Amino acid sequence: MKLASGYKALWEATQTNYPGQTGVVGLLSHALAFEEMSSVVNADHSGRFVKPTARGWRSSIDPWGFKRSTTVGALAHTYKGLINYKTPYDLAMYTRLIWELQPRTILELGSFQGGSGLWFADQMSIVCENPGEVHSFDLHTKRIHESAKHPLLTFHQVDLSDAKTLDKNLLMRLPHPWLVIDDAHVQVFPIFTYLSQFLLSGDYYVIEDVMIMLNKELLDGFQSVEHAGFLVDTYYTDAFGTNVTAATNAWFRKS
Ligand SMILES: C[S@@+](CC[C@H](N)C(=O)[O-])C[C@H]1O[C@@H](n2cnc3c(N)ncnc32)[C@H](O)[C@@H]1O
Repeated sequence: MKLASGYKALWEATQTNYPGQTGVVGLLSHALAFEEMSSVVNADHSGRFVKPTARGWRSSIDPWGFKRSTTVGALAHTYKGLINYKTPYDLAMYTRLIWELQPRTILELGSFQGGSGLWFADQMSIVCENPGEVHSFDLHTKRIHESAKHPLLTFHQVDLSDAKTLDKNLLMRLPHPWLVIDDAHVQVFPIFTYLSQFLLSGDYYVIEDVMIMLNKELLDGFQSVEHAGFLVDTYYTDAFGTNVTAATNAWFRKS
């Protein structure tokens, strides 16, 4: 994992070569920015990973709030002309996580038009030193647009209401680290339980749109996530403010 090495290098170069002159980094020259920079340097602090049940459900702001201030939201929801139904915050964080984790496999549950799978494949090819594979799963694959094509990207037709329809042989051969994104909202925790047996320490599992599923089943599900040895990565859940993400408390890393 890459963590905050780039920031640390800037910090150390500044401290070593320009002691007391934080102004050398231009926009970071005022005191508040200096504070912010030190918090970024400390992003991988010991409290970064926390138990799912230790978190509240509040968000600083609604991550989908931008929809209310746009007429159609078309720009915010498309990538290369295809639907990519993600918040701007989550898009920024996925780019960061893909760089930090350097996943060899991205599994997306819920392809929709294929725009998000295409976006993940493009991100992987841009920020990963050793790009791997993106596999996107959906029941309604006829909706996937013909332009959602990428050498790293494969779509699969599966019915996620039965986890076992996921190809075990494929899962066993896919290289790690993995980033799994559940954006299908079907049998979320049975699917998590099934897939988590294939995950290794350090792999990530993100569950989107948690708040539309907030009920007893979801709370029980979070307990099972905790028992399976996953912790919330608060670097992502709280990057733009507490839980300013569609994956409320649900950027999980396997311990
Ligand atoms: C929210 S959309 C995915 C959005 C897409 N990931 C994006 O960001 O643009 C949810 C998807 O789950 C799929 N889905 C619904 N029921 C399913 C099932 N039983 N098995 C597999 N996929 C299913 C739908 O067809 C739909 O494309």
